[in-house]
Amino acid sequence: MDLGLKNKVALVTGSSAGIGFTIAEKLAEEGCNLIICGRNSQQLQEAYQSLIQTYPSQQVLSLSADVHQAEDSERLVQESLKKYGRIDILVNNSEGANFTENLIENLSDEDWLTVFQGKLMGYIRLTNLVLPRMKQQQWGRIINIIGTSGKEPSPRLVKSGVVNAALMNFTKSVARQSATSCVLINSINPGIIDTPRHREYLQIYAEKEGTTPDIIRQEIIKSIPMNRIGRSEELANLAVFLASECASYMTGITIPVDGGISASAF
Ligand SMILES: NC(=O)c1ccc[n+]([C@@H]2O[C@H](COP(=O)([O-])OP(=O)(O)OC[C@H]3O[C@@H](n4cnc5c(N)ncnc54)[C@H](OP(=O)(O)O)[C@@H]3O)[C@@H](O)[C@H]2O)c1
Repeated sequence: MDLGLKNKVALVTGSSAGIGFTIAEKLAEEGCNLIICGRNSQQLQEAYQSLIQTYPSQQVLSLSADVHQAEDSERLVQESLKKYGRIDILVNNSEGANFTENLIENLSDEDWLTVFQGKLMGYIRLTNLVLPRMKQQQWGRIINIIGTSGKEPSPRLVKSGVVNAALMNFTKSVARQSATSCVLINSINPGIIDTPRHREYLQIYAEKEGTTPDIIRQEIIKSIPMNRIGRSEELANLAVFLASECASYMTGITIPVDGGISASAF
C-alpha cells in the first residue's frame, strides 16, 4: 500500500521520547521530513541523532520548545515554515495532566486552570497556528494523541479525563469546519502504552498506595482484555495511516488503541 507520505512535512510535538518519538520514526520511515521538539534539550538531541542516523535521506529539524507555552508554539511553527515552507501533518502530542492529585475536593480553581493551560490549550493553539495554511494548501492532516480517560473516566485520572474529553469534542468540531478544505483531523486514544510516562504513573501510584510498581502493573494488566500493555509502535502505525493519503475519507473521529480496555461499544 502506498501511503503517499514521501516528502510530506510533519511536525510531531513531544517527540523526544515515548509515543511522539515512535510516531516521528514511523513517519520518517515512510519518507516524511520532520520537525521534532521537546523541553529537555539533551533528550531531544539524542532523539535527533537517532533519527538522522536511522533515516539519513530525511531532513529533521529539532527545536527545543514547550508546546504548552504560546511563544514556543509560535516559534516552532515559524521555524518550521522557514525551513520547509509548509507543514502538511501536525501530530499534537504533549504531557497530560500530572498524576499527583486527582481528588476533586483537593483541586482549586487555579489547579484546574493550570491543567487547561497545558495539553488542552497546547493542542488547540497549535491547531490554530497550522490550520489556515493547511486550508490554503488544500491538504492537511492533524492527529491528536489524547487518551482513553476522555471516554472512560478513571478516579486516578480525573484531570486527564476532563482534558481528554474536551479534546475529543474539539477534534469533531475542527473536522466539521475544515472538511471541505481537505484538512482532516482525527485523534487516537492510547490505552496503557509502555512509555516513560507510563512508568512514572506506576511509580507514583505505587508510592501513593504503599505498594510496588510491579503490583500496580499486574493489576492494570488484569483490567486489559488483551492481557498486556501496549507498545508505542502499535499506536504509531495508526498515526501514520491517519496522516496518509489512504485515510482520505476519515475525519472527526477518535480511535482507541487500547487492547480492548474501553468498555463502551462506540
Ligand atoms: N503512555 C500511556 O499509557 C498513555 C495513555 C493515555 C494517554 N497518553 C497520552 O499520550 C501522550 C504521550 O504520552 P507518552 O506516554 O508518550 O509520554 P512520555 O513518555 O512522557 O513522552 C512525552 C514526550 O513529549 C515531550 N513533551 C511532553 N510535554 C511537552 C511539552 N509541553 N512541550 C514539548 N514537549 C513535551 C517529552 O519530552 P520533555 O519532557 O523533554 O518535554 C517526551 O519527549 C500524552 O498526551 C499522554 O497523556 C499516554
